[in-house]
Amino acid sequence: MHPSIQNDISPIAAKLNESSIRVIANFGMSQPGVIPLWFGESDISTPDFIRQAAIESLNQGQTMYTPNNGIPQLRQSLAYYQTNLFGRPFDEENIVVTLSGTNAVMLAAQTVLKPGDKVVVITPAFPTLMAIPRLLGAEVIEFPLTQQDGQFDLDMDAFLTVLKGARALIINSPANPTGWMANEKQVKAIIDFSRQTGLWIISDEVYNRHVYEGTSAPSFCQYLDERDHVIVCNSFSKAWCMTGWRLGWLTLPKLLRPTITKLIEFNVSCAPAFVQAAGVAAIEKGEDFLQQTVDRFRHSRSMVQQALGNLPGVTLYEMPATFYAFLKVDGLPDNSQPFILDMIEHSKVGVAPGEAFGTAGRGHLRVCYGTNHQSLSIALERLQAALKNRASYV
Ligand SMILES: Cc1ncc(COP(=O)(O)O)c(C=O)c1O
Repeated sequence: MHPSIQNDISPIAAKLNESSIRVIANFGMSQPGVIPLWFGESDISTPDFIRQAAIESLNQGQTMYTPNNGIPQLRQSLAYYQTNLFGRPFDEENIVVTLSGTNAVMLAAQTVLKPGDKVVVITPAFPTLMAIPRLLGAEVIEFPLTQQDGQFDLDMDAFLTVLKGARALIINSPANPTGWMANEKQVKAIIDFSRQTGLWIISDEVYNRHVYEGTSAPSFCQYLDERDHVIVCNSFSKAWCMTGWRLGWLTLPKLLRPTITKLIEFNVSCAPAFVQAAGVAAIEKGEDFLQQTVDRFRHSRSMVQQALGNLPGVTLYEMPATFYAFLKVDGLPDNSQPFILDMIEHSKVGVAPGEAFGTAGRGHLRVCYGTNHQSLSIALERLQAALKNRASYV
């Protein structure tokens, strides 16, 4: 008899929870006429000038391995882009190209974490940010945002106390799923704390351009110096509607480059040349597109506020950034899946369950408002009705 496969895999891998957003999505995709608001992406496909850059690269036969850290042209473009955005100089040696934001966070975590390390994650949080340290054998400490007057906030005193016992912080601001955004003072206080204690900061800034005031969210990149224990992760997925391309980057102290280079070699070797060529076009010519997208989301956000802002028993938090609305729904059980599955089947709209984002997400739903205004308007009407009638489900 063969030995059992299921009982013989890595216990760490076996213990990982299945993504409950996927469970919802799989069911939703099997149902006709459902408007999906469960995933974190818009329905805008990558603009033509970016696609053409990839096609040109392919036509030129750029189909071979590239340097581990990315092609020089993309690293130079990213350094120049960040120099302009953050008003301080970046060098291409501070930039490493990755295969997506997810890969960027994994590489950052592999660089600094070892089994048994304590890692603080601010919650509710994108599930990957908790799964990655767990996969590496680290212990995740969830630090919940406070909720008051329809706003999320970070209690800095309590937060710095918890950080004292940790090796690393994984912070995502602007945040998925809450839309919470750390202010300049908080970012500065966290980096000062790291300078005093050696705490590693892995900062996931994939939504830094999805802000409704100004051009970027407060960023650790503004402060980064070569001695800092800080790695900033970013992605082309959200800002340039390139989720399927799997392209991202890291900004880091130069001393980390040799280690990161090895990790990239043994994870994925390199990003494809034609995808990186598309990345160059996005960075060098993508600003107008990005601004149009943010303007579209600004209007979407006001549609959400109008539809869901005044529902009895529903709290819609302030949304300074991202394309997510996070709703606290009175009476929603800790496991909101049955409610959402029912909503998908009967109301033909689907959202993500709050508990997918950690314990602090229980009792909440996440709505991604990245879809076009016509679909969003219908989806919000359906969602409004489902939430009003929820007494019959919850
Ligand atoms: C906070 C956060 N980080 C990272 C990612 C992953 O982005 P990518 O598509 O670049 O892997 C997402 C995607 O939803 C996200 O919300």
